[in-house]
Amino acid sequence: MNAPLVRFAHVGKHFAVEGGELEAIRDFNLEIADGEFIAIVGASGCGKSTLLRLLVGLDPAYHGQILVDGKAAKGVGGDRGIVFQEHRLFPWLTAAENVALGLATSPLSPAQRQQRVSDFLGLVGLADFAQAYPHQLSGGMSQRVAIARGLVASPRILLLDEPFGALDALTRQQMQDELLRIRARAQVTTLLVTHDVEEAIYLADRVVVMEPRPGRIKRIVEVTLPHPRLRNGLAFQQLRDELLHELTEDGPYVAPGTDYIKALPLTAFAL
Ligand SMILES: Nc1ncnc2c1ncn2[C@@H]1O[C@H](COP(=O)(O)OP(=O)(O)OP(=O)(O)O)[C@@H](O)[C@H]1O
Ligand SMILES: [Mg+2]
Repeated sequence: MNAPLVRFAHVGKHFAVEGGELEAIRDFNLEIADGEFIAIVGASGCGKSTLLRLLVGLDPAYHGQILVDGKAAKGVGGDRGIVFQEHRLFPWLTAAENVALGLATSPLSPAQRQQRVSDFLGLVGLADFAQAYPHQLSGGMSQRVAIARGLVASPRILLLDEPFGALDALTRQQMQDELLRIRARAQVTTLLVTHDVEEAIYLADRVVVMEPRPGRIKRIVEVTLPHPRLRNGLAFQQLRDELLHELTEDGPYVAPGTDYIKALPLTAFAL
């Protein structure tokens, strides 16, 4: 296997809180291959956003190592683009100006900058909305502006923190397809945090299941289903049930089948 693009080795994170320390992440180990799509799922507070903040370089105070291409990931760099949990567009800037913020540290000339911004607005299907302000955009459109901003500096790694959390179910599914389409064109290694197990299985090559207090990896599940994935397919649903079980219960998962009935508690037959 090629050297991983991203390597978390024994990463731990503590926060100082009133009356002591909070262990937010314990011994997190993960290698991400170039071009891979990783989804992280887990209960609220298990350290998902914290992990992304560490990788993007927003917080240098942690234990262990985070390497990008074999080098310590220090400081915010153009090789990592992030889309935050809320899209965080500036209301007084147009869509194009919001996207251009992603080029703040780039050495491009104004003309090159403008060209890139319009290329990436086009990529997310918003070429006609360059001059629109956030209040003139729908939730899905705002989220696409935020994705364009995350991609405009052509990062090698795109970090997405619950990017579709605030969207209705239909828009959410459309955005998931859009993300796969964009990835196919922009070839970017992707790390997506989501509460939605179905979204993780629909999109990712591997799903990292985390558990809280302290935040740590419970299990990593490889998703080998070919794209486009069928949400109502049997294999998809079995995987979804299995992951939901990981997130909600502690006992071993019993796959549906002949043993399934035996595994049901007696109360299941009480109806
Ligand atoms: N700046 C901070 N100071 C103190 N504690 C923090 C800070 N940021 C996060 N935490 C704590 O670290 C833990 C992990 O937080 P984090 O935001 O990473 O969780 P999360 O998995 O992203 O949750 P959610 O799904 O709700 O977004 C939580 O217990 C949180 O209270
Ligand atoms: Mg979070």
